[in-house]
Amino acid sequence: MAVNLRPAQGPRLPLIAGNWKMNLDHLQAVAFVQKLHWTLKDAKHEDGSVEVAVFPPFTDLRTVQTLLDADKIPFALGAQDVSAQDSGAYTGEISGAFLAKLDARYVIIGHSERRQYHAETDEVVAGKVQAALRHGLVPVICVGETLEQREESGPTAVSVEQLEAALAGVPADADFVVAYEPVWAIGTGQVASPEQAQEVCGKLREVIAEKLGQDAASRTRVLYGGSVKSGNIASFMREPDVDGALVGGASLVVDEFAAIVRYQKHVGV
Ligand code: PGA
Repeated sequence: MAVNLRPAQGPRLPLIAGNWKMNLDHLQAVAFVQKLHWTLKDAKHEDGSVEVAVFPPFTDLRTVQTLLDADKIPFALGAQDVSAQDSGAYTGEISGAFLAKLDARYVIIGHSERRQYHAETDEVVAGKVQAALRHGLVPVICVGETLEQREESGPTAVSVEQLEAALAGVPADADFVVAYEPVWAIGTGQVASPEQAQEVCGKLREVIAEKLGQDAASRTRVLYGGSVKSGNIASFMREPDVDGALVGGASLVVDEFAAIVRYQKHVGV
């Protein structure tokens, strides 16, 4: 199939991020990460052309960190959430300081499941973004609209509003990632079209330019998330403003996730 993929050596390194959600305990995590590493290594795909990040549950982080370190596995480690506070009487919360000590590079903030099931407001999300930056973590700021919101206010309004709120007080040189995840496409198999993803991702890049300047907009990676699979990843990666994917369900199946990481090689799958 004729394709027109952007060269991997473009200004933004593609990021394929696996959000495990509440799946895989720390023993299963070891087996999974080892198998993923072998699969990608065998396919000669640990060549640095795509950054791979895994986001295990908190209880797996220490184990996965030790494994990545001991076996020199070139995956970045991320957490699925962080407290807006640094320490103190916040039962059940996890400080960014603890995540930084575990060599976590990324932290997902404002995922729609946190917004929906834990009532996280834009204000809470902004506080968590600040906490991540304080501790040298790269926030992966998630935004996206429900189907009703899309019908009511169009495809971009909600994501723009959420991103503007999350970027309040963020300095122009901050390192962060944005993930556009339409709520109606998460875990539903009802994937957005590449054009729909591009429309919102392009708009979000404009928001970054308006708030933080052109440099930040050109440098920052904007991901698409929502029912990404090996069969549709290449179509998203062809879009100029989609720099990678935040993958849920398909990140739990080694061969499928490895095939997503290898999107440049298997176009047309
Ligand atoms: P999904 O989840 O790939 O299972 O749709 C994406 C996400 O929630 O990050």
